[in-house]
Amino acid sequence: MRGAFIVVEGLDRSGKTTQVANLQAKLESSGTPVKLFKFPDRTTAIGQMIDSYLRSQSELDDQAIHLLFSANRWELATSIESLLEQGTTVVCDRYAFSGVAFSAAKGLPLEWCRAPDSGLPAPDLTIFFDISPEAARARGGYGEERYEKEQLQRRVRELFDVLASEFDDERWVTVDAGRSKEEVAGEVWKYAAALVGKVSPQVDKLWVPALQGRIMYSMKL
Ligand SMILES: Nc1ncnc2c1ncn2[C@@H]1O[C@H](COP(=O)(O)OP(=O)(O)O)[C@@H](O)[C@H]1O
Ligand SMILES: [Mg+2]
Repeated sequence: MRGAFIVVEGLDRSGKTTQVANLQAKLESSGTPVKLFKFPDRTTAIGQMIDSYLRSQSELDDQAIHLLFSANRWELATSIESLLEQGTTVVCDRYAFSGVAFSAAKGLPLEWCRAPDSGLPAPDLTIFFDISPEAARARGGYGEERYEKEQLQRRVRELFDVLASEFDDERWVTVDAGRSKEEVAGEVWKYAAALVGKVSPQVDKLWVPALQGRIMYSMKL
């Protein structure tokens, strides 16, 4: 049985990093092999360019940084796929949905933003952490990084809604992340426990129609 691919998405300060760590620990103690990924992964060469941009130490065109974020996911796509095939559950702190939502919030066309991420391993389940920008701010305020501004966060939230509307509720669930850590953890665990061990054998491709995905797959062989 392959591993489950679970993505946690949401605005800054919605509690993603807190909850993926919690989920990883719970999965491990329940005997499920699990690996945590966090995007952007700032440790790679591409990730270091992203890090410098986010800390405003370098300037890049919106299109260029968008493609770097996408490339940062692609450079780990093969590892994610092999882990899943070997039976390891993969939990991801942000993924392509953040990539598209943030760049589209800056004004780039949504379909242009989506194109480079098309064909990435598709999550079996995306858990979206919903929180109002006000509640997120109450958790200590936004930090110093480039995207941590309330106006942009509002627009990002609207774009997440657009992306969510394309998935059924087997693939995308929204969690009220404004509650206590324990309540949020309980709901995340309910979804994760229902999924692990019950995923279909094949890992789907993100934003590729099922038929086209199969054609692309057979051409690769
Ligand atoms: N449910 C919660 N209630 C109150 N504070 C929280 C909750 N979840 C996380 N926090 C706190 O809010 C801040 C942001 O959490 P974090 O997990 O880093 O969010 P994200 O990764 O989504 O930006 C941290 O200080 C964290 O301890
Ligand atoms: Mg985080």
